[in-house]
Amino acid sequence: MFPLLLQTAIRAHDSTTIHSERTRLIEISEKVGASITYGCREGECGTCMMRIVSGMEHMSERSVLEDQVLQENMAGRNHRLACQAQVLGGDIIVKA
Ligand code: FES
Repeated sequence: MFPLLLQTAIRAHDSTTIHSERTRLIEISEKVGASITYGCREGECGTCMMRIVSGMEHMSERSVLEDQVLQENMAGRNHRLACQAQVLGGDIIVKA
């Protein structure tokens, strides 16, 4: 999958999608039609793990559960679960 740029104002399919602060990555991706593979949507399976290419400073802190699942999947510091990580505002580039 190519890197995906998620912006406060997202242009996709000739329309602009505005997302509010503290929106989960998976919800933003769905709004712009990007296909993210997911399973439980509850932060337990790790299927939706993504790498934050840039914009980590715009992301929420990891919860204890998210941190545990990422560690179990040997994820790096720049990985997040799309169903758990929230965008606080600003531009994010992610790669599934
Ligand atoms: S879909 Fe299972 S952890 Fe995100």
